[in-house]
Amino acid sequence: MLVILDFGSQTTHLIKRRLIQLGVKVELADPSTFDPGRYKKIQGLILSGGPASVYDVNSPDVNFNLAKLNIPILGICYGWQLITKKLGGTVVQGNKEYGPTELNILEKDLLLTNIPAKKFKVWMSHGDLVKQLPPGFKYLAQTNDIKAAIVVNEKKQIYGVQFHPEVDHTEYGSIILKNFVEKICHEKTQAYQINVNKVIKKIQKQLSTTEGKIVSAVSGGVDSSVASAIVAKAVGDRLVPIYCNNGLMRLGTAGQVEKIFSEHLKIEPIIINCRQQFLTALKGITAPEKKRKIIGNLYINIFEQEAKKLENVNFLVQGTIYSDVIESKGSKHANKIKSHHNVGGLPERMKLKLIEPLREFYKDEVRELGRQLGLPDEVINRQPFPGPGQAIRIIGEVTAKRLAKQQQADQIVIDVLKETSWFEKVFQSFPIMTGVNTTAVKGDGRAYAELVGLRIYDSRDIMTAGWTRLPYEVLQKISSRIVNEVPNVSRVAYDITTKPPATMEWE
Ligand code: XMP
Repeated sequence: MLVILDFGSQTTHLIKRRLIQLGVKVELADPSTFDPGRYKKIQGLILSGGPASVYDVNSPDVNFNLAKLNIPILGICYGWQLITKKLGGTVVQGNKEYGPTELNILEKDLLLTNIPAKKFKVWMSHGDLVKQLPPGFKYLAQTNDIKAAIVVNEKKQIYGVQFHPEVDHTEYGSIILKNFVEKICHEKTQAYQINVNKVIKKIQKQLSTTEGKIVSAVSGGVDSSVASAIVAKAVGDRLVPIYCNNGLMRLGTAGQVEKIFSEHLKIEPIIINCRQQFLTALKGITAPEKKRKIIGNLYINIFEQEAKKLENVNFLVQGTIYSDVIESKGSKHANKIKSHHNVGGLPERMKLKLIEPLREFYKDEVRELGRQLGLPDEVINRQPFPGPGQAIRIIGEVTAKRLAKQQQADQIVIDVLKETSWFEKVFQSFPIMTGVNTTAVKGDGRAYAELVGLRIYDSRDIMTAGWTRLPYEVLQKISSRIVNEVPNVSRVAYDITTKPPATMEWE
């Protein structure tokens, strides 16, 4: 088994994921309480990166003697800087570097086995760097700016890397981690296969000694559907899926929810038709944040009322996935990036315990779990969809008429992207009702009608996005269909702004 000491890097969990993909048993541990003596046998230790500087007053530290541990160690970024400081080298502050850089290999080593190139791209993300190596270390690779990019103390089997081998952008990063596991820690690796039955069994075990109903707030999206389906497979009809049909979702979402639960899982979901309540609450509201608040609060009230009609409800299923966890400060030493909550304050308000079967998984893994559960492709491949729904894609007041227009245009965008095989290649796509009127000539007559915005973009990490370079014919088809079929539209404008600075949604 290997242990990763988590110093709070946004990518610590990726290190764990890479090791799990190698079929290795691995545990994340808090460095301040980690005691190597408590473990029967550790084959290797990885010290992760982290947001602190080793010079910060309360920077995270370890409570054991690194030099005397006698097991292979790999320090990544902050982890390597901490090793340097503890073993007598020098770390200097203020040498920030974020992004890709080229690494040159100086010397062959077990860690660099099976890497066919002498130079390759690695991803940096650091504020400090190592200026002087601790005694007994030597350089294995360097970049233009950093001498200690890869280092080793052969006698003690301690390695340090300044870059992040765990991220996608580092070429041969997975090979470096595999070499550390196989060639340095002498741990066997094997191909890893995600297995939904294991996840179901874990939930079964967690719930086996409990009783009462388990409610689930489903949205038709991939995360809440897969999470609920796993719980349904584990405990059958103790699960009560509740779908609040607020009318702000994509066309056909309620039908999809019905299909997933009654057809695939043989559980009848409760579908609350509350479209009118939402439209009434949004009447006259134009400020985006106010819309979000009204929708969020009303959702919680309606869900709570419905759940209270059921007796003996003790649990709430939430489709939290790992990127949600890390964004809302997933580990002790991580920085908070943004708050994330799917169903607001429901668990506290209703005194419900949370069941989160997907907390450890990334989006692509959730989709694979969904496939193994036999959920339909249209659910598995759904784009992420914002909680406030189409309301934040209608600038200004949301009325029944404008909502119908937006949803009709949205369906056209989806249809054309699917027809042209683009739907699964983009991250999100939607039209925006801008509320701006412009002139058009329709059938020899002058029209003064709404300008529709079109936002279609690619992203991996949600923090950054680029607009999709769709072929002109695809854009033309979308534009023609929207202008011809959706009433009272004068023209379509394609949004060619990256994020940052523009956000993905217009509101
Ligand atoms: P932005 O517009 O912030 O969007 O670049 C990033 C991602 O978040 C989604 N989004 C939301 N999701 N409630 C949600 O549940 C919200 O209020 C909200 N606003 C934006 C957006 O669709 C994109 O995937």
